[in-house]
Amino acid sequence: MNQQPVIFAHRGASGTHPENTMTAFQAAVEKGADGIELDVQLTSDGEMVVIHDETVNRTTDGKGAIEQMTAEEIASLDAGSWFHEKFAGEKIPTLDEFFAWASGNSLQINVELKTNKVPYHGIEKKVLDLIEHYNMRGRVIISSFNFDSIKRVVELDPYIAVAGLVWKMRRDVLDKAKDLGLTALHTQVSFALSEYGKEAIDSGMLLRLYTINEVKEWNRINESGVPIEAIITDFPERFR
Ligand code: G3P
Ligand code: CA
Repeated sequence: MNQQPVIFAHRGASGTHPENTMTAFQAAVEKGADGIELDVQLTSDGEMVVIHDETVNRTTDGKGAIEQMTAEEIASLDAGSWFHEKFAGEKIPTLDEFFAWASGNSLQINVELKTNKVPYHGIEKKVLDLIEHYNMRGRVIISSFNFDSIKRVVELDPYIAVAGLVWKMRRDVLDKAKDLGLTALHTQVSFALSEYGKEAIDSGMLLRLYTINEVKEWNRINESGVPIEAIITDFPERFR
């Protein structure tokens, strides 16, 4: 059996609040999360903004690709109404705003670099510089589906915590993680419970699971005996 896993709120408390907004992050604190997972993309003028998709279409009242929009354009959007009218006026936070807020608590922070579809050249250094500015190195894990991005992070800062993100069952990704000497993977349940999961653990990697929203599912994983360090969930309150 696992010990109580570390609970990361996925895009904040996104089951009950609009994802990747300050209200979702504040709710994660109130719901007892140990950490927050968030997604970072880059505007056309180089601002790091906290949003999952490469466009603003799904989660705001605007339209457009983030890489083609300025920070000012992004800041003018409503990122709350799509979820519920009571969240009207919520904004897409900048990563700077997020870290300024996070300075007031002690939660762990998982910054996912969304470089798997748009390369966002230079984002790795920008994120590391901001982490340094806010003196957050000990609290942050940087993850990405793009292992070249992870490699760049490690080259720039060999001591920052990083994790490779794995989607579905990928032998090649596990091999790449081993080549890079990664010590943590963020995976889905199917991977964790497979021979790949066992191989990752045997190679000294910690496993964190996304996205676990049902306690029943967690119980099943727990009973399997596979050691899981953390779960990433839309509903942190269910796991406290
Ligand atoms: O970091 C875990 C999870 O957030 C990765 O998938 O699509 O929700 O960013 P996604
Ligand atoms: Ca994510």
